[in-house]
Amino acid sequence: MRLQTVITLAAILTCDAKLPTHKSHIQPNELPPNPTQNAQALRLLDVQAKSAKTSRIVNEYKPRHRRDVFDSKSYNESSLIWAHSERLDENGDVVLRWVNSDSSITFRVEARTRGYVGIGFNSARNMRGADLLVAWVDDRNNHAHVLDCHGLTFEDRAVADEVQNVELVSGYQNDTHTTVEFRRMLDTCDIQDFVIGDDTMQVLWALGPDGSDGELPKHVKSGSRPLRLLLPVSKPQTIPLRHWDVRINNLTIPHDMATLFWCKIFKAPDLPMKHHIVGYQPLIDSRPIRDGVPMLEKNSLSPVHHMVLYECAEDPDQHLWKEWANQDGFYGPSRPSEWATCVTPVAAWAIGSKGEFLPENVGIPLGEKTGVSFYMLEVHYDNQALHEVLDNSGIRIHYTPALRAHDAALLGAGVGVSALHVIPPKQKQYRTVGICSPECTNSTMPEEGINIVSVLLHAHGTARKISLKHVRGNNELPRISEENSYDVRYQQSRIVPGGRRFLKGDTLITECTYDSSSRDKPILGGYSASQEMCLSFVLYYPRTELAGCYSMTPVKEFFETFGVREFYALSMTDVENIFLSSGNLENLPPKIEFDIRQHASESEAMQGDDQGVGLMKELIIREPAEFQNKTFLAHLNQMPWSESVLTEQIEKTLYKGMHMTFCKKRDDNWGAPIQIQNYPDYVELVSNEAAEKSCNYKSVLPQNSVTKSANSISSSLISAILAVCTIIVTR
Ligand SMILES: *[C@@H]1O[C@H](CO)[C@@H](O)[C@H](O)[C@H]1NC(C)=O
Ligand SMILES: *[C@@H]1O[C@H](CO)[C@@H](O)[C@H](O)[C@H]1NC(C)=O
Ligand SMILES: *[C@@H]1O[C@H](CO)[C@@H](O)[C@H](O)[C@H]1NC(C)=O
Ligand SMILES: *[C@@H]1O[C@H](CO)[C@@H](O)[C@H](O)[C@H]1NC(C)=O
Repeated sequence: MRLQTVITLAAILTCDAKLPTHKSHIQPNELPPNPTQNAQALRLLDVQAKSAKTSRIVNEYKPRHRRDVFDSKSYNESSLIWAHSERLDENGDVVLRWVNSDSSITFRVEARTRGYVGIGFNSARNMRGADLLVAWVDDRNNHAHVLDCHGLTFEDRAVADEVQNVELVSGYQNDTHTTVEFRRMLDTCDIQDFVIGDDTMQVLWALGPDGSDGELPKHVKSGSRPLRLLLPVSKPQTIPLRHWDVRINNLTIPHDMATLFWCKIFKAPDLPMKHHIVGYQPLIDSRPIRDGVPMLEKNSLSPVHHMVLYECAEDPDQHLWKEWANQDGFYGPSRPSEWATCVTPVAAWAIGSKGEFLPENVGIPLGEKTGVSFYMLEVHYDNQALHEVLDNSGIRIHYTPALRAHDAALLGAGVGVSALHVIPPKQKQYRTVGICSPECTNSTMPEEGINIVSVLLHAHGTARKISLKHVRGNNELPRISEENSYDVRYQQSRIVPGGRRFLKGDTLITECTYDSSSRDKPILGGYSASQEMCLSFVLYYPRTELAGCYSMTPVKEFFETFGVREFYALSMTDVENIFLSSGNLENLPPKIEFDIRQHASESEAMQGDDQGVGLMKELIIREPAEFQNKTFLAHLNQMPWSESVLTEQIEKTLYKGMHMTFCKKRDDNWGAPIQIQNYPDYVELVSNEAAEKSCNYKSVLPQNSVTKSANSISSSLISAILAVCTIIVTR
């Protein structure tokens, strides 16, 4: 294939996709509908007896499945070091702190209320079917209380669980705040509780009016935030840290530009020897411009959507690069072609992330080359609100001379970003897949393989699950990482527990599952928040030459899957070349280039890199006759997407069919030739989820929970409250 291709596949992208504006879906009903709430209330009186019974079962169960975690000394307030702390709302009215062990988790909630505070866990952003708990401090006697509840699935109402699995640790209130500490098992084995696991979940909160102790009227404020609670602790760095700020300089984003990619070159700091990059933080500095004048205050609603810092391949012409480093940068599609050599991601930030530090055994080398090295910052602005903004955002890179044990690198993998990545509408669970081929890993990895440390899984707003699969020979090994409750508003890497040895010749598969049931039209792949992606960024050591490893459906097979054989003006090979050159028109035959430029409408041009979406509107079908003279996009939009026979066939053909694989090295050369190959043939692993657990009992309280403290809740009070335990948390 004669392709001086400049695929910008290696781009990461993380975009907080615009949240769908339709109403949230009701999650599948996990709980048996139980209209007899009073019966539940009465049963609660049995809790003590029940937990005595269950704790016997628990003790039998424990040695096999769980490590014992709590020491017997009871906790006092503040005796714990909180590993994590998050504001659940913008104001900081509700602060949640927590620390977990292998089997249990202790929370502290500080809420600006003298009434009740409700905290909930759910896969949806509402209380239907959620695991809820309600805590308050009684104004009369200052006793704290916590009640384990759940949201009904058919009504916005909280009712007490049959079994109380939350243990109060302590609680008090002052003039403004209610502060309560409590703990529970991660998996209580209670169908009315949520399992706190590795997936992202929605943490819900609600504040009751003052004096709402013991009665639970409708909340006065509520909200939700996606979080993963079981993140490893990002330890405060005790090593000497320096920082390097790479940021855009006074860029004005015009009010009529909804999507903008901006790229700027930076010269690495002058370092006499190798250092390690150990973390990064976002520097968000966007000021709205009103009447031509930038506002003084920074905008909390910055259009910065994601930022990626890439290392550039060494270039003999340092003079040119130094000049670029002194300039302000370029609009993405019009950047100099030399910049296409900046393919190795070093830091990838997306909206929702506070930045991160790498695990302590690895660092990304900085300043190791003799001479100067250059980096490219790519900033994606998602300015759907169409404001005029002055931007100085960027990334703060933390680095240290105290070298870590291993030189790490990031590898991008998944589905190549292009309009050929189609998600049909009206699908509850539609899967797509990107392959990193065995030929690629065979030719770029060392004999002993690599060690995978952590993974950032990335897609946009319709993605619900992402998993990174590992195939060796004809067998699938356990998933390297997986997220079963993806939320684009929350982007953090996932540590691979114990790491994973990945050998040359192994296959890496990124699989995404989308829920497009609320959409009427197909979603095409692309960088914009309204388009989709399916990517994983894999942090590994030792570093290799491999920087990006992707696949996409070959063009001919793609169009055939949608019933199209031939277009006017362009042959399938021409179309393929356009996709492979990904917007860079220089390498195309002049006639085609002219056609494309002619056809590209102005609004499309404003959208920047469109990865072929514009082309889909220009391709006019010649064969077969039944679709003749329609554009491909019109054809796609008119397909009968509600026919599950059709969509299942399309999903299967694109998933299990042919894949065109790309293997990009750090120096911008191919690590293995572009190939068209079959989906690998292997024995699939039985779902990780299914094998996981065997809960056959109802309640697990943390050990020593039976000890009563002055604060623990009395059963008679609970039943009194339960009569009114109906918080209406309508959202
Ligand atoms: C009340 O408690 C909250 C949360 O613990 C704390 O932040 C605040 O400073 C306290 N206020 C006073 C007046 O002590
Ligand atoms: C950016 O613009 C402001 C005025 O709008 C100016 O004061 C500042 O010096 C500029 N910064 C740089 C680095 O050019
Ligand atoms: C891997 O590469 C070696 C040469 O380095 C070659 O002999 C072998 O056949 C390759 N294996 C695969 C699966 O491509
Ligand atoms: C498509 O357009 C061509 C030329 O304009 C015309 O000859 C042909 O009949 C049209 N086909 C259909 C199905 O309308």
